[in-house]
Amino acid sequence: MLYNEKVMDHFRNPRNVGEIEDADGVGEVGNAKCGDIMKMWIKVDKEKMIIEDVKFMTFGCGSAIATSSIATEMIKGQPVEKALELSNKAVVEALGGLPAYKLHCSVLAEEAVKAAVKDFYDKNGIEYDKEKFKPGFHGGEEEVS
Ligand code: FES
Repeated sequence: MLYNEKVMDHFRNPRNVGEIEDADGVGEVGNAKCGDIMKMWIKVDKEKMIIEDVKFMTFGCGSAIATSSIATEMIKGQPVEKALELSNKAVVEALGGLPAYKLHCSVLAEEAVKAAVKDFYDKNGIEYDKEKFKPGFHGGEEEVS
């Protein structure tokens, strides 16, 4: 089968789908390769700087749904700083792999998380390393092999 069981599970039963109305950060990104869109909302415990809740919606393919679903699981309850370290490579590995030609889909999840964190930082006047958010700031699918 093209997709493993874990990918199929997250595709069929995606976790954390929806939106957070009073979100602390919202990120919306597009995939340059296919034109698909991903939006992510985060709710942050500002005292502890922990991601309390995260939700996503996507006009993306099954791989985009599966990677975003697992990405939300990976960052929920984690420190905001840690969410920034989430790479598309880590997301794909957590899913047990994706077909090579679908790797670009996993970049949407990573970039949406970072865009939401950046929005949170901007809204709250929190200083951050701008280098981490340059265009194409993701690890890049070419890092996944
Ligand atoms: Fe566009 Fe997968 S084909 S996100």
